[in-house]
Parts: sequence; structure tokens; C-alpha cells
Amino acid sequence: MSDFETAVVYQIYPRSFKDSNSDGIGDLNGITEKLDYLNDGSDNSLGINVIWISPVYKSPMYDFGYDVTDHTDVDPIFGTLKDFDRLIKEAHKRKIKVIMDFIPNHTSHLHPWFLESSSSRDNPKRDWYVWRDPKPDGSPPNNWVSIFGGSRWEYDTKTNQYFMHTFITKQPDLNWRNPQVNEAMLNILRFWLQRGVDGFRVDGFEHIFKHTDFLDEPSNPDYKHGIDDPYKIHKHIHTRNQDELYSLVAIFNEVLAEFGEKFMITESYSDLPTLLKLYQAGNKLHAPFNFHFILLPWNAQIYKEFIDEFDEQVGVDYLPNYVLSNHDRSRVASRIGMNAARTAVMLQLTLRGMPTIYYGEEIGMKDVPIPKELVQDPFEKNVPGMGLGRDPSRTPLQWNSEKHAGFSSVNPWLPTAENYRSVNIAEESQDPRSFLNLYKQLIHFRKRSETLLFGTYTSLVIKKKDVFAYIREYKKEKILIVLNFSGKQKMVELPFVQGKIILNTGLDQQKGSVKKLQKISLRPHEGYMFTILK
Ligand code: GLC
Repeated sequence: MSDFETAVVYQIYPRSFKDSNSDGIGDLNGITEKLDYLNDGSDNSLGINVIWISPVYKSPMYDFGYDVTDHTDVDPIFGTLKDFDRLIKEAHKRKIKVIMDFIPNHTSHLHPWFLESSSSRDNPKRDWYVWRDPKPDGSPPNNWVSIFGGSRWEYDTKTNQYFMHTFITKQPDLNWRNPQVNEAMLNILRFWLQRGVDGFRVDGFEHIFKHTDFLDEPSNPDYKHGIDDPYKIHKHIHTRNQDELYSLVAIFNEVLAEFGEKFMITESYSDLPTLLKLYQAGNKLHAPFNFHFILLPWNAQIYKEFIDEFDEQVGVDYLPNYVLSNHDRSRVASRIGMNAARTAVMLQLTLRGMPTIYYGEEIGMKDVPIPKELVQDPFEKNVPGMGLGRDPSRTPLQWNSEKHAGFSSVNPWLPTAENYRSVNIAEESQDPRSFLNLYKQLIHFRKRSETLLFGTYTSLVIKKKDVFAYIREYKKEKILIVLNFSGKQKMVELPFVQGKIILNTGLDQQKGSVKKLQKISLRPHEGYMFTILK
């Protein structure tokens, strides 16, 4: 069994984690400095065992590192390769594995490959990117739209062709059907694997291949103009999840296997059948991200149905995974509220498979409203005022109640949340019932519980539709998790007589005390974990 099967992953958005050199932007040395907080081997630390670091490659930062100009170097904003090596070494000392972001779909427009490719039509690297002629009237080759607003095509006046960009114009798409691109990109994986990384989070995976016919995409009949994200105007049948993607999963798995037990998690906002296809295309050291907890409405029945199906279909040959927030989406405490977020955390950390925690989630950080003049995110700049901007969920981690929340000694690149004096790591470490302590207790319990790590999952049918309950079972042990999704008190009948309290979301019930289960009362948003006695 691989270490990843028992992992709890923590996503670090490096710009916002910890600034060690007082420029207002987080960096690699900042991460290294705080590794003990993440895992010092004791139950006082958070206890995670894998970190995924969002991109630290050389970049002009038009999309904050997701626009790469050199895949084999670290941007000076974040530090140096030496700092990177030190981070890996220090992380490994603490038994923390390090996963890097890998961005296959595109590079920066300033990457030397694109500079060559755009220099002339007969440059040897012309075909490394996706170039097409205009339509006879000069307009773009088809109706494909960019995820960050506007056409997916940008006209190049020098060579009189359009190039494709799935994201901003400064992120031209690579042509993965060119074998040289394949080779160059796979060698980048090897470069970092040789340096000791333990795997990759693969960015924008579903977008890598586009249909070779370049046909227009059909309209989406459900699209509401002015309300929905403009990207939803079409059904993306030619630009997402094309067939070659599944072979690429296997190719990536093979390259990783050259270096032993290495893991990859691919970004995918796809439906369940597609996620399953992605799973089946690789081995147990690959999982496509499951973002359904971000996408589904907070509703016990809907969650139950999804988890029942997902857990069963992923089965034991692959690794289920669950995510509550990430750097592209609203934070969970803002989406569903602070109290429901505690319930969601108990759910995420008691299911089968691999949970991924977004930095700051562990203290209940919320989205921070960003005044117009401070907006950084290119998405918000391109499609303003629709609530699509990602800055609110990328604000500095709140370490303590000092100025700038202890993140930096100077004004940070994005404003710090106003509530940082009460919502911060130092304060919450002292409060036995804090969000942070809920995380720590759940993570540490999970780590030691074979039942949570390896047990089966079976949901219960509960009469109250706002309550979701399930059993995790291993050998002779049964753990019951019962979660009230609503803001109202609920009386629930359960098919068990007695249970011993492991913990409750409010952390205010005596651990180890025995409770009758045939009829139990749950407070608003309350979740319980019990060992079933009978
Ligand atoms: C992915 C990243 C997002 C980035 C985009 C372009 O969706 O998660 O942050 O902007 O790809 O690389």
C-alpha cells in the first residue's frame, strides 16, 4: 500500500502562506519555516502528511504562476532552487511529502518556446502551440470561448494567424499532439522527480486536448446571459475531456513510476462518469480531483446520493478523494456558513480516501471582499462584477493577532481579513473548541484509526431528510458518523442501541462517554462520531 492511501493533503497557495523576506508575498522559505505547524510529529501540530504547493516556477505572474516562463527554475519572488531543495529536505524529515503543481495545458506568452513559435510561420517550434488561419472575413477560426472571458483566439499581427488560449491571452495553449511537446513536458516531470518531489497536481488537465476538427461548440440552452459565468454559454464538447486524455493519464503514471511510488492528482471539474473514466485510465497512484463537495448544494440527501455512488464506483482499486475549497473557488465557510463548515469537515475527514485541505480552511477562514482598486486576479479583471474573481479566497493566512496577521511585516499583496485578530492560528491553538482543534482532532484520530483509513463505507437510511449518517467498518469495529446538515435541532432514530462518543463537531461532549442512540437529539449543524457498542 502506498503512503498516499492514508494521506491528508494540505494545499499551499505560496503567495499567501508566509512571507519570510518582507516583500508582502509568501515564499518557499516561509513554507519551510512553518513546516512544524503542519506536522512536527506531535498531536499539537495539524498532522497533515502531504503538501501540494501551487506553482513556484519562473513567471511574469499574469496568472500568479500559472503562466510559466521557465519550468526548471523557481521565480525569485518565491526564492531559489536551493530554497526548494531545502524545503523538500525539511518536509521529508517531518514525513511530509511534497506535490508540485504541473501546468501542461499552456505556458506564458513570454516562454522562450512561444517567443520562437510566434516569431515566424516556419519556425521549428511553430507547431508547439495551436495556430489557425482566420476565417475569410478575418474573424477567429471558431466560436470557442476562453474560460477567463472572451474568445479563445488571439490574432497575431506578425504572422497573421490566431493562437489559442484556454485561459488568458498571456497563456497560449501547447499542442500536445506534437511529439516534441510531449517529450519536453515529460522531461520537466523528470526534472522535478529527480529533485525529490513526490508527485504532481496536474493543472487544467481536462482541457489539454481539443478536437482536431475545430468545429464550433453548441450553445448551452441553460445559459443565463448576464447571470452565469460567460464560459457557460457553450457546451464544451470539443474542448474538454477528449479521448487522448485518458492515454495521457497512463503516460504520466508511467513517467512517475520511473521514480518509485509517486502520486498525481489531476484537476477535473467533470461529472461522475468522466471522473470514473479518468480513474480507470490510470493506477492507484492517480486520482482526478473530486470537486463535487464544492459544486453540490449543501443538502444531506444530495450529498448522500453522490457519496454512495462515488464511493461504490471508485471502489477499492482506486483512491476516492474529497475537497471543500481551493484557490479557484469560494471558501467553504463562506459558501455554507461557519457552523455548517464544521459539519462538512467532519464529513470530509471521516470518508474513505484522500482529503485535501485548502490553507486557512483549518481555522475557518472566509472569503475576503476585495475593493476594486486592489483586484489582482485576471479573471476578475476580464469578467468584472460577477463574483467570479478568485482574490477573496487567496488572502494571507492568519497566523496571529499581530499586524498583517503575522503573515508579513509589510502590507501584503492582498488585504488581510478584518477578523484576523480573533480568527488566527495562535488564538485557535489556545481554544480547545476552535475550528483548528476540530481539524487536529479529526486528523489525528483518523491517522490512528484503521476503521477510518481502511474500513468500508455504508450509509444509513434516516427518516429526517436533513440528517446524513453512515458507518465505517473494519474488522470488528463500527464507527458511526451522524451529521445534521440543517440549522435546526433534529431528533433522529438510529438502528443502534449505544455508542461511545469519539468526538462531536462542537468539541463540547465528553469523549468516551456512552450515549443512547435509538433516539438522539442533534443541535443545529451538529455532527457526532461514535464507536458503536451495540
Ligand atoms: C487552473 C488553476 C487556476 C489557473 C488556471 C490556468 O484552473 O487552478 O488557478 O488560473 O488553471 O492555469
